[in-house]
Amino acid sequence: MSLRYILFAVLLTAVTAIILWKFGEIDAPSFADADDPGLVERGGQVYAEHCASCHGADLKGQPDWEKRRPDGRLPAPPHDESGHTWHHPDEQNFKVTKLGVAAFAPAGYQSDMMGFKDILTDAEIWASLAYIKSRWPEAIRRRHAAMSGRSQ
Ligand code: HEC
Repeated sequence: MSLRYILFAVLLTAVTAIILWKFGEIDAPSFADADDPGLVERGGQVYAEHCASCHGADLKGQPDWEKRRPDGRLPAPPHDESGHTWHHPDEQNFKVTKLGVAAFAPAGYQSDMMGFKDILTDAEIWASLAYIKSRWPEAIRRRHAAMSGRSQ
């Protein structure tokens, strides 16, 4: 095989990798679009199945969610306007849902909020966040969008 063929093969592989990478990016939503009815509906199913047991079907979280339990862990916070979820940009909520709270806390931190990376796809995580966002009052959605540098 001549050097030319080898170079061509390397170039082809690189181009394919770049195309796949770019398409992957286009495919995956990069924010929780609560104005996409299909995404919100899928997210409602994901939420009911994987989040509601702790965060509540009504998004109200667990009682006394701001007080650590005797075992040192925090109860699940609400995802409605009374909680902190909307204080964080979509990206951050995505990472916490995917990797779990402990990934962003000091070593040894114990939390009931495990990561969902082996349970849900990225698209399902985005859908659950779109559902949560769809439940926020308009004024909160506007504040959250402004904070994230977006128009919605
Ligand atoms: C086993 C209970 C449990 C389940 C199931 C669960 N969570 Fe949580 N979640 C928690 C707890 C507890 C916390 C707070 C943990 C801490 O700060 O130590 C939390 C925190 C969070 C936060 C950060 C909120 C904030 O104010 O910063 C997000 C976002 C979140 N959960 C999203 C989800 C989503 C989305 C799902 C479903 C895919 C889910 N959680 C499922 C218990 C749970």
